[in-house]
Amino acid sequence: MVSRAVLVTVLLGACRQQRNPEPGIAGVANAAMVDSRDPARVAAAAVRSAFPPGWRFSAGTSATFAEHAMVVSMSKYASEAGVEILKAGGNAVDAAVATGFALAVTYPTAGNIGGGGFMTIRMADGRTATLDYREVAPLAATRNMYVGPDGKLTNKSTVGYLASGVPGSVAGMAEALRTYGTMPLAKVMVPAIRMAEDGFVTDTNGRGNGQCNRNIAQFEGKELFCPGGSALKGGTLLRQPDLARTLRLIAKDGPKAFYKGEIADSLVADEQRGGGIITKEDLARYQAVWRTPIRSTYRGYSLITMPPSSSGGIVISETLNILENFAPLPPAGSAGYTHLLAEAYRRSFTDRNQKLGDPKFVKVPLDELTDKRYARSLAAQIDRSHASKTPAFTAGSEGDHTTHYSVVDANGNAVATTTTLNGGYGSGVWIRGGGFFMNNEMDDFAAQPGTPNMYGLVQGESNAVQPGKRMLSAMSPTIVLDPKGQLLLVTGAAGGPTIITATLEIILNVVEHHMTLADAMKAPRLHHQALPDQLDYEPSGLTAAVQDSLKAMGHKLGTRGLATANSIMRVSGGLHGVGEPRSGGTAVGY
Ligand code: DON
Repeated sequence: MVSRAVLVTVLLGACRQQRNPEPGIAGVANAAMVDSRDPARVAAAAVRSAFPPGWRFSAGTSATFAEHAMVVSMSKYASEAGVEILKAGGNAVDAAVATGFALAVTYPTAGNIGGGGFMTIRMADGRTATLDYREVAPLAATRNMYVGPDGKLTNKSTVGYLASGVPGSVAGMAEALRTYGTMPLAKVMVPAIRMAEDGFVTDTNGRGNGQCNRNIAQFEGKELFCPGGSALKGGTLLRQPDLARTLRLIAKDGPKAFYKGEIADSLVADEQRGGGIITKEDLARYQAVWRTPIRSTYRGYSLITMPPSSSGGIVISETLNILENFAPLPPAGSAGYTHLLAEAYRRSFTDRNQKLGDPKFVKVPLDELTDKRYARSLAAQIDRSHASKTPAFTAGSEGDHTTHYSVVDANGNAVATTTTLNGGYGSGVWIRGGGFFMNNEMDDFAAQPGTPNMYGLVQGESNAVQPGKRMLSAMSPTIVLDPKGQLLLVTGAAGGPTIITATLEIILNVVEHHMTLADAMKAPRLHHQALPDQLDYEPSGLTAAVQDSLKAMGHKLGTRGLATANSIMRVSGGLHGVGEPRSGGTAVGY
């Protein structure tokens, strides 16, 4: 199954790595070289990556192997829901929609029907598509709706009724299914409805499905998610009868139940009670939009990724185009590599923060930003031994809960989906009778262009609030093809702007550093978003010597937790699936 071209690339990569004098963490062989059903042979064939001493994960561990098909998501139940549909004869899109609805039940911190997302599809016959079901600003939204009378930003873009954009998830999932699926909505929603109705057992750590954050505690959802004022205990059977009813209505009547029917009535009645501005007209006008995928290349590999209203595909393509000018890249984990990544990110994020927004409202220079010649000119500005400075204006504001899932079916159809409420449990608002949380995606707009927002970041006019506009996202569902044009990798992440850098680094770990998927997911991650002018790494993710070198080059260093990804890679004899090792993603296949 593995093409000669891949083997040659892998072996050449191995030689390059061995010649490179600077020590790093890259692996020098790929699990794709051996039959991956046999972990012992994989381990013997792959020269193990060496992670920094003290790093939380070991290199050389195995992935979940499946001969036919795989779903990887943040919830075991949602991955199982996808596999249930695959085994019943559904394709990857049927399974992705089943997984998406199941996440709304079993991972309500981010899985949703009250939020939005992006889906990248590559069918085995070569068709590709990207679907934008991002929320839009309500028609009554105004540019300064989050600025208080004192001229200061309020917290209304993050908590409560004014924080929500018009949800896109139901329209998006139904549209993906209608166009590329093979099963009716009622069938793919069976597992989600069952789990809402009969209940499911919450994680022992409560993560993702039983928290009681300060937002929830102010609104209706508190009775279900914060009984007696505290979080659900792990191991609780959580039944959601209101949500089950809502899902049944959608299964029966399709998206019109949500956008025009009974659910719309509950949603708007709740908005009116709580001082929100989403109207029946907003809901009736909502549409998911098919976009032309961004197709870019990196050293012979092809990427299919998300165009605006997400910034993810442009920034990933621009960064890889810059890095392509440095051949070979220094080993992963080395100071030289970290510096190059930081300088490339600095440039592509500067473009992101200044130039991108909803293409219906702003002219996005997509062709220029993804052009190889433009990248060459940016690469020429990079000094290999000194950090540059980010120009004075830029940056992006993000929340802290989103979720990515990847699906490949037995025919090789692939789907990468990222969906979000933005913050954990979104705005905290839980629709009475509807049984679901609303997003706080309005905070992804530049709430006050040109001045620091509540996170101290500054964003551009191109992403200012306007009625009917989609707020700029970082979500980056991405599919990578090998040099023969065959499916190689399905990936993406959650984590605000770190979505972009984590997704890109997983891709680089596989195609440039020839790591196994398990190592590619476990390797320490890096992040730079232009402003604040700081290179972030995960605690213990860089050795002390590398940190010293980077400081000597002029980088300001910081630490943070970096992103949550779920990935699938095609290997000899089947698929490898790896759920996010940092926070418990689950791969299920057969
Ligand atoms: O669309 C975006 O870029 C953000 N709303 C994503 C937020 C996010 O990833 C939070 N994650 N854990």
